[in-house]
Amino acid sequence: MPDSLYHPIKIGPSLVAEGNMFLAPLAGFTDTAFRSLCVEYGANATFSEMVSAEGLARESSKTSALMERAVNESLFAVQLFMNSPDPAIRALPLVTAEKPDIIDINCGCPVPKVVKTGAGAALLKSPDAIFRIVKAITNETDIPVTVKIRSGWDSSSINYLETAAAAVEGGAVLITLHARTRVQGYSGQADHTHITSLKKHSTVPIFGSGDLFTPEDARSMLTETGADGVMFARGAIGNPFIFTQTRQLLINGIKQQEISRTARAEAFLRHLDMAVKAKGEAHACREMRKHAGAYIKGYPGSAAVRRDIVQAEARRDYYAILNRWVES
Ligand SMILES: Cc1cc2nc3c(=O)[nH]c(=O)nc-3n(C[C@H](O)[C@H](O)[C@H](O)COP(=O)(O)O)c2cc1C
Repeated sequence: MPDSLYHPIKIGPSLVAEGNMFLAPLAGFTDTAFRSLCVEYGANATFSEMVSAEGLARESSKTSALMERAVNESLFAVQLFMNSPDPAIRALPLVTAEKPDIIDINCGCPVPKVVKTGAGAALLKSPDAIFRIVKAITNETDIPVTVKIRSGWDSSSINYLETAAAAVEGGAVLITLHARTRVQGYSGQADHTHITSLKKHSTVPIFGSGDLFTPEDARSMLTETGADGVMFARGAIGNPFIFTQTRQLLINGIKQQEISRTARAEAFLRHLDMAVKAKGEAHACREMRKHAGAYIKGYPGSAAVRRDIVQAEARRDYYAILNRWVES
């Protein structure tokens, strides 16, 4: 057992993460700007949005842009989704050209469009397909392969021990378990006892995912399940502070004060500036509307800000709105 709940993680034979708080893959959210911001606040590894191996294999430039890494991402995983080894193998040269530190396989996406192709959470129904996909990739590349699973398809087919074992048998060096079923989607409670049980049975590091909204949630998951690390997802949206706060809590037992409006506005505007740099002003300003609400949630005056943000089209609009909020 490591001395501290915050500790390095060995991923395969030669990769080490400095700490055990990762930023989850979040389609529509974890682009280079948001990932980069989370690294500044202490995320130890970052995952791309899920990328279609089939789309890549057809050389879609939009999907390959999802694999770009920000300069400060020193441990970056590209997450792929596919239904079988074939698209993975065809996509692999494009993936390896980007030199990710990790290739992560998505076995958890519940979205019908993905599941009906046999990818994402549909793979949970076929541990053998998971084995074959991971094996095919590990045969072709030395880049460590990790796998993100859910507890099972539904409550009557909980099979995380089997799917994780298939992934490890294929060569996966770390497993993340989102402790919900596909049928649960993102609702209901994650069942952290599944993480406890997987950790007991596993020979590779286990990361836990599901309902991590506060530093205390992360501490409880680590102590109660014995998981090697945590992956923040919705809890990090509009809240990169969760990384700094969790680190403080795990290392020093310090429970942090509420984040000030100024600090929230500063983080949002830094996020905005990085997004503008990556995507251009008009595109970034449209996309940042979905992040903005999360930065100000629960604070007085947030309803007015949300109303104004719907109309924000330029960087200066956001600066004016946020400055008004801080001074109100
Ligand atoms: C908007 C959204 C997008 C997501 N996109 C992905 C994805 O691309 N790949 C993936 O493996 N999981 C994805 N997830 C699942 C998260 O990584 C995480 O496992 C899940 O949200 C549970 O954690 P939480 O309850 O702490 O949010 C997504 C979740 C949300 C809410």
